Amino acid sequence: MKIFIETYGCQMNVCDSGKITHLFASQGYQPTRDSRSADLIVINTCSVREKPELKLFSALGRYIPLKRQRPELVIAVGGCVAQQWGEKLQQRCPGLDIVFGTHQLDHLPELVTAVRQSHKALNSTDFLDCPGGLEVMARPGAGAISAMVTIMQGCDNFCSYCIVPHVRGREYSRASAAIIEEVRMLAAAGIKEVMLLGQNVNSYGLKASGEISFAKLLKLVHEIEGIERIRFTTSHPKDMSDELISAFTTLPKLCPSLHLPMQAGSDAVLKRMGRGYTAASYLEKVEKLRRVVPDIALTTDIIVGFPGESEADFQQTLSMLEKVGYDQIYSFKYSTRPGTRAADYEDVVADAEKRDRLARCQGLQDKISQAVLLAQVGKVAEVLVSGPSKRGEDEWSGRTPESRIVNFPAPVSARAAVKIAAGDIFQVKIVKAFKHSLRGEVVVDAGS
Ligand code: 5AD
Ligand code: SF4
Repeated sequence: MKIFIETYGCQMNVCDSGKITHLFASQGYQPTRDSRSADLIVINTCSVREKPELKLFSALGRYIPLKRQRPELVIAVGGCVAQQWGEKLQQRCPGLDIVFGTHQLDHLPELVTAVRQSHKALNSTDFLDCPGGLEVMARPGAGAISAMVTIMQGCDNFCSYCIVPHVRGREYSRASAAIIEEVRMLAAAGIKEVMLLGQNVNSYGLKASGEISFAKLLKLVHEIEGIERIRFTTSHPKDMSDELISAFTTLPKLCPSLHLPMQAGSDAVLKRMGRGYTAASYLEKVEKLRRVVPDIALTTDIIVGFPGESEADFQQTLSMLEKVGYDQIYSFKYSTRPGTRAADYEDVVADAEKRDRLARCQGLQDKISQAVLLAQVGKVAEVLVSGPSKRGEDEWSGRTPESRIVNFPAPVSARAAVKIAAGDIFQVKIVKAFKHSLRGEVVVDAGS
């Protein structure tokens, strides 16, 4: 039996798809990249913006007709769009067998078995007190050096534009003991780098009685032998505690890189977004971070064209990009999400204006990113090798602790070629900066 999985959206969904692969591996399903040879097609969807939602309908338009040649093919849609639409998705797309919600991931194998027996469409989208699937542990693929670990799911922030709390449910933190056990298992399987995932990791454990804080959880993960690098995402600026900021100095394995979504630079817009901080208090957090980790690499999310955003408001977003000097940004045109507060906001920004602001925002950031990368030239960075580079020919690729991509040729020392494998760590001198990556040369000891 073969399973084909298509994943849209965030790292959380990528992580969930790994769990689905694992669940079905124990039932004898092999992953395939060819949808036409699959016995089971799973689409793991995202509804944060309208675009990935539209992608789902075009994918179903391609996959449902495959059932004519393969009547036993089962098609399932999960994730945020499934949660939002429920059985209405099956009414709109006849031939779609299963709709499973964001708390039902672990039930998917049972749902597939039931559909194979009854040949009737099924949907399962109830919210549970403890989201099912959180405890499903995906085994890392052969040779993998990095892994994602979900530490919490859901969100209680209800930013006015965001559908996540509506489709992922209330914030739920996994027990720290289960997280530690999973990271230990990953380290024993050869994983060197973990990314701890949650919609708002800074508030980990705060609402679970007797649970430890996120900074304490990091400390426990830090103690696990074999784990060399720790990352986490996503942080909410309003919950970025001093305890967490100081973890960057006390935990050497905690990488100096942080995704800190700013969304907008205008206080008026931030207020209507319900973000709970101002541009000045955001900058204060950044300054505090940079005082303790001067070289920390920051990335962010930006929304342009939020209802009521004037040109002057937008200029403040651009000014924040200049002030912070992010490595990279993820920028989006505001997209109205049904059921959110902002869906009722008036004073919408015309699409052409949003497009223009997005282009200006990305144009400015391209220059800033380029300057950040150029400033690395001449420095020596510790690179964790992820595998051969796309160029091949004995070229390798890896990331610095700041998560910057570095490509470098295999070094040939005076005596012998040095063997390289994923998971190795090298000191690499940066010799050139490109648009999105760096080029370097391994620093080989004089005696080698
Ligand atoms: N429109 C545009 N972007 C959005 N995001 C969340 N909701 C919307 C929306 N309605 C963006 C935010 C968030 C990222 C994951 O997606 O920037 O941080
Ligand atoms: Fe959405 Fe805001 Fe929660 Fe992030 S913090 S998931 S933007 S509601």
